[in-house]
Amino acid sequence: MKRYYWMLLVLLGVWVLAQDSSLPGVKEAGSYTQGSLGQVLQPLPVTNAQPDGVYGVGAWPLYTPELADGPGKELVMGYCQVCHSATYITMQPPLPAATWEAEVQKMIKTFGAQIPDEAAKQITAYLQAHYTPETRKP
Ligand code: HEC
Repeated sequence: MKRYYWMLLVLLGVWVLAQDSSLPGVKEAGSYTQGSLGQVLQPLPVTNAQPDGVYGVGAWPLYTPELADGPGKELVMGYCQVCHSATYITMQPPLPAATWEAEVQKMIKTFGAQIPDEAAKQITAYLQAHYTPETRKP
């Protein structure tokens, strides 16, 4: 009896493979043509290249994000820029209040940010007061 189990497994495998092979998340299988999703364009040829292969590039556009003014801003500047810049905050789309709360907790619990509870509360309130869909100013 036991040796028929593998046959059962093979049959099951064949059945699984015979099912619709479209995977969740895969939008389009097959070849990609112009204008189709997921197309990777070739980069434009470099036009200012010199014969010696040396060419200039402009300065990398650095920008220092201005955090919204309000109570708690100094705490954010002090505690949240230890590991990364405040761009991590300003580059987010407007996030719901609960997400900001979770975000601050993630920084503390997952990434080990050393932020006292009281400061974390004020930072969360600051983020919720300026960076949610309801409160974010353009
Ligand atoms: C101990 C270091 C540390 C501190 C302090 C810190 N973060 Fe982060 N933060 C990280 C790391 C690590 C990531 C993930 C970086 C990556 O994925 O490239 C991150 C990512 C983020 C992101 C991007 C979204 C995400 O979840 O990856 C946001 C927003 C953010 N931090 C906000 C904050 C805020 C607000 C504070 C202050 C309360 C803070 N961070 C303090 C380490 C820190």
